[in-house]
This record gives sequence, C-alpha cells and structure tokens, in this order.
Amino acid sequence: MSEIDYKSHWEKVYNKTEFDKLGWYEKEAAPSLDLIQLCNLPKDAKILNVGAGATTFVDDLLKLGYTNLLANDISAPALEVLKNRLNDEHQNNVKFIVDDLTNPTKELLKINNIDVWHDRAVLHFFTDENDQNTYFDLLRKGLKPRGFVIIAVFNLEGALKCSGLDVFRYDADMLQNKLGNNFKLLKTFNYTYTMPSGDERSYVYTLFQHLSND
Ligand SMILES: C[S@@+](CC[C@H](N)C(=O)[O-])C[C@H]1O[C@@H](n2cnc3c(N)ncnc32)[C@H](O)[C@@H]1O
Repeated sequence: MSEIDYKSHWEKVYNKTEFDKLGWYEKEAAPSLDLIQLCNLPKDAKILNVGAGATTFVDDLLKLGYTNLLANDISAPALEVLKNRLNDEHQNNVKFIVDDLTNPTKELLKINNIDVWHDRAVLHFFTDENDQNTYFDLLRKGLKPRGFVIIAVFNLEGALKCSGLDVFRYDADMLQNKLGNNFKLLKTFNYTYTMPSGDERSYVYTLFQHLSND
C-alpha cells in the first residue's frame, strides 16, 4: 500500500504553481497535435484527455474546431485552471471529469465510445503493476473499436522522477505489450521536451489504433 496521498499531492501542485511554470507546461502541444492530424478525425470525435491537468492541448483542439472533448484529472484545481481559461462556448465543448485513473469510481467507469485516448505524462506515474493494469483495462473498455491511443511518457533514457514522484519508464514495445495484440502501432518517436526551467526531458510518443471489434 502506498503511503503517498496522490490526490492531495496533485491538488497542492496546481494550487501552488502557475500552470505555465509547471515542469510539463507546453505553450503548444505540437507533438500531440501532429499525431491527432494523422487520425483524420471528424470534428465531433470524442477525444479523452486523461490526466489532462491544465494542458494547452485542450485549447489547441478547441481552436481547431473539435467539439466533443473530455478532460479528466485526479486534481480538481487543475481542471478548474483549465476551465477558467476557456470561453463559454469552448467550456460547453468539454466535459470535465475529476476521478482517479487507478481507482475509477464515477464518471470514468461510464466512459464509452472514445475515439481517441490521449495521455501525456500521466501513465509513467503509475509504478504499481495493479495501477497500470487498471489504467489499461479502463482504456480498452472505454475505447471505440478502431479507436486511437496516443501515449507520451518518459522513455528509457528519461528522468527517474517528476514532480517529486518516482516514475516507470517505457519504450514503444512495452506499451504495445500492455495494450495487447489487438492494437497496431502506427507511429512512434522520441521527443526532447524543454521545461520552463530550461532542463530537458526525454519522452517517447506513440500512436496506436485498435484493430477490430474483439
Ligand atoms: C505531469 S502532469 C501532465 C499534465 C498534462 N497531461 C500535460 O501534459 O500538461 C500529470 C497529470 O496527471 C494527473 N494525475 C496523476 N495521477 C492521476 C490519476 N491517478 N488519475 C488521474 N489523473 C492523475 C496529475 O494531476 C497531473 O495533472
């Protein structure tokens, strides 16, 4: 049993630091947007951002005209920062879900027919195998047949910690193993992200597609 209260950790993080000073802030979520373009989605595609925090990726998608977004996070203050930044019309195009990916209790258990599952810098915090399995079970249950999965996490050369927490690092093969044979890897690349402090972090980006109705 972990002794860390993750919910309160992530609430404090967003209460104490401006979102654009956080060590994962992106002015523009360029690599994620490149992968979204490859999916050729209609504008009403259901795009779920897990562990969205206050990410500008949501603003980017709204500006591109996407109308059916979901933003999940364990931290209510994080989603408040995101929501308060959006105009009324854009707020109406996003459903905000405060819930824990490793212990889904409410809305997350109801998600279905997701066209895209997008995760940047979230899965790598789940160092416990049971938590990882809960995450991938939720993903497989919520995703539409032939839906897309974008996962960007620290790669095998990446940092050992983020936000003071241990991380579990991946390469594309490890993510393929976790997803199973019913997912095809469409694209992967390593990406060096520069933090607001100027430090660098090595990520692996992956785009998978579910293959059938099974
Ligand atoms: C490093 S931040 C990345 C935020 C965002 N994806 C981005 O790229 O800007 C990790 C995020 O995962 C969220 N998170 C951590 N554990 C979570 C969990 N068990 N369920 C849902 N969200 C979680 C945190 O609150 C935080 O917003």
